[in-house]
Amino acid sequence: MQVELIDKTYNMRNKLIAGNWKLNPATSDSALELCRQLKLRLAPFSKAKIVVCPPFTALCLAVDLLKGTRISIGAQNLYWEDSGAYTGEISAPMLKSAGCEYVIIGHSERRLFFHETNENVHHKIIAAQRHNLIPIVCVGETLQQRESGVMKDVVMEQVTEALRGMSEQALQNLVIAYEPVWAIGTGKTATPAQAEEMHEFIRSLILEDFTKSVSDQMLILYGGSVKPDNARDLLQNTNIDGALVGGACLSAESFSEIVRAGEELL
Ligand code: 13P
Repeated sequence: MQVELIDKTYNMRNKLIAGNWKLNPATSDSALELCRQLKLRLAPFSKAKIVVCPPFTALCLAVDLLKGTRISIGAQNLYWEDSGAYTGEISAPMLKSAGCEYVIIGHSERRLFFHETNENVHHKIIAAQRHNLIPIVCVGETLQQRESGVMKDVVMEQVTEALRGMSEQALQNLVIAYEPVWAIGTGKTATPAQAEEMHEFIRSLILEDFTKSVSDQMLILYGGSVKPDNARDLLQNTNIDGALVGGACLSAESFSEIVRAGEELL
């Protein structure tokens, strides 16, 4: 009886496995082929939430090819204005009308290479939600910040500035991804204990400003060198509700193995 109760608490949140294709693949033909493979490989799964985030030029083909499946499409970025003279940008209504349901916001590569600030991230979240896109808000510290012991301060600032002034209802349609910068594309994953500690901390930050039910239901993904062979160890932690996968999502086979690891825990 006791075990059943614990399981119910654990299962309150679903697992969400999202693939961030970044600046890949180079051609539409390869994007189409990856979508075809994903459609085949992911067909058997029925519980975990699955999101793929191709580059802008492959969004429409991914939406078309994956229509009728359980795979949702997300973009990797957006601008906060809906339209206007902003050459090279893309807006929430454009993504929505292309068929996106999610959008990644504040990825560390955007913060590092394109100088995005916490303030920018906040504006982008508001714009996404105005058009019913679910933001996947990325936070995470650099190696230097971890080594100097300020990692929780950094993440606290990123989370509180991003979510400043938001309503409880808005928080129910938002996902956080903890991606330690030192673990991205390096093959160096955070240990499950390191990841769980930060996820628990992020959930406690949500609880400071919002109700327990909002904090309990918030999906917090881990990202940074997630692979089929480490996915289960990470995903089985109480506060790790999924993964934001980079390199390993470019192969339908390895991405589907990560989805399997999530699904087996549900
Ligand atoms: P890798 O899985 O390649 O480390 O990338 C993680 C990431 O940045 C996902 O957004």
